Amino acid sequence: MRDMNKIALMVTSAFGLEAVVKRELQTLGFKDLIVLDGKIEFQATLEDIPMLNIWLRSADRVLLKLAEFKAEDFDQLFDQTKALPWDHWIPKDAKITVIGKSVKSTLKSLRANQSIVKKAIVEQLKRKYHTEWLPETGTEYTIQVSILKDVAELTLDTSGLGLHKRGYREDKGEVPLRENLAAALVLLSFWNKDKPLMDPMCGAGTILIEAAMIARNIAPGLKREFISEKWPLIDQAAWSNARLSARAAINPGGTLQISGYDISADRIKGCLRNAKNAGVETDIVFMQKDINDLRLPQTGGIMITNPPYGVKLSNIEEVRSIYRRMDQLFREGEGWSLYLLTADKKFPEYFKRMRPSRVRKLYNGTLQVNLYQYFDSAGKPILNANDRESNAD
Ligand SMILES: C[S@@+](CC[C@H](N)C(=O)[O-])C[C@H]1O[C@@H](n2cnc3c(N)ncnc32)[C@H](O)[C@@H]1O
Repeated sequence: MRDMNKIALMVTSAFGLEAVVKRELQTLGFKDLIVLDGKIEFQATLEDIPMLNIWLRSADRVLLKLAEFKAEDFDQLFDQTKALPWDHWIPKDAKITVIGKSVKSTLKSLRANQSIVKKAIVEQLKRKYHTEWLPETGTEYTIQVSILKDVAELTLDTSGLGLHKRGYREDKGEVPLRENLAAALVLLSFWNKDKPLMDPMCGAGTILIEAAMIARNIAPGLKREFISEKWPLIDQAAWSNARLSARAAINPGGTLQISGYDISADRIKGCLRNAKNAGVETDIVFMQKDINDLRLPQTGGIMITNPPYGVKLSNIEEVRSIYRRMDQLFREGEGWSLYLLTADKKFPEYFKRMRPSRVRKLYNGTLQVNLYQYFDSAGKPILNANDRESNAD
């Protein structure tokens, strides 16, 4: 039987990261997860919403799933939307925003779908609140109407700004990686807090900052706000308890071996600021360095990096010379595994050290990228001592 205290939640993610988000949800104690393309559905309580928003690292958003129904014409869309108990979720003064998506459906016009849904919500609220006019001066409530193959799904966004916006990144660099994708790269790697971690082209430092936050158990959303914090629907105590316990869960710093380099002195200054904002400035050593001057320490470790994409033709040669340098570095250094994210499909042709153990198709925003992973099945070093060149230091 359905538990009446339970609500249906939907956590969205970039395509390709569903398994990572699923693992995070399992670690947070959620069961019976339904994994679909770009989203995971499950039952939870309203009090779980603060904890999910504060703790999820690789997800995009946490949505309340309100309804799913067949909608082949505007009447069906209007009537079934109006039949929902909107006054249960939305107060009288709410500012109501409706956004839309439509894929392979009869109701194709996003504008028309959005305005029908808004009209139906407003009608229901006016009737329930016994008023002819809704001021829309209060907190924003964003409802999404997604229609796929004539089935409409209505959701209410609890996050506000996407979960990748942690709030620590003042300095973004030129092509920054979304923070939730950077966290996913770390979660997909064999790195743990006892191993060295390096990003030789660290840009804004995102991968390393996310890694340090993971190692120190710092909740990614601890320092930001979420739209549903202002909702009367969720008990304020749930928010303060989630924040209190996240603060208490932080591990002390100072023991990690994380290093980041970039050719740009400005980027390194930005990394220092970003790491300070995130509270991990003592956990990472940042230094300005050209990859051509870099040596891999003989300790072995994990390299996770995202080189320039070389989207402009003029930069491609420069980028490929970085690949050649990486190939050389990995011949010199023993015991390093590599996780490299790029949109350039030519990378494996230049990194001839070995064939990738796995290639994952991911997205940085709308840009399709590949994660080239080089490790053996046990996550052991990818090189052996005989391969080392005599000039390694
Ligand atoms: C795509 S960005 C990395 C973005 C980073 N992952 C982030 O999230 O901010 C690539 C970085 O490589 C750096 N870079 C370019 N050539 C380099 C070189 N020869 N040695 C070291 N860094 C280099 C650029 O300055 C840039 O910051």
